[in-house]
Amino acid sequence: MLKEKVEKALNKQIELELFSSQLYLSMASWAEKNGYNGSADFLYIHSDEEREHMLKLFRFVNDRGGHAIVPEVKQPKLEYDSINAVFEEILEHEKMITSEINNLVGVCYEEKDFTTVNFLQWYVEEQVEEESLFSNILDKLNLLGGDKARFYMFDNEMGNLSATSTDSEDAE
Ligand code: FEO
Repeated sequence: MLKEKVEKALNKQIELELFSSQLYLSMASWAEKNGYNGSADFLYIHSDEEREHMLKLFRFVNDRGGHAIVPEVKQPKLEYDSINAVFEEILEHEKMITSEINNLVGVCYEEKDFTTVNFLQWYVEEQVEEESLFSNILDKLNLLGGDKARFYMFDNEMGNLSATSTDSEDAE
């Protein structure tokens, strides 16, 4: 049985993961509307991944005797100044998510809920990968300067990256 404090903290994380999914969906739409189709594909897939992160937590809360709460839908930002601004915001957002997961693990330790600590290890590792992925993407973007041909190549690369991640999901 989950302790009340842990259940509350897990439900807060559910809300954050679902908001991440909404945010990346909004970014995908902006990218698609602005001619970055490869980046849009990548962001659509990433939005789905965030929903999966949310669902994993959701099922865990109910499996442990708690009540997983469907959060209210908040509208994310709709407009961005540039594709660089999109990925800068993602990296900042993921850093915030990492710090929230660390807080959540902290609550579990305080409550001596080591089962949930174990379960959350997956999230801790996932955050290391996500921060590194977005930091690499941003480094690449920052090297492009204002060269339109290079932006086109970058966007193609993002499209290829999303095709690879779909292939590996299909293989699972
Ligand atoms: Fe579910 Fe991008 O963290």
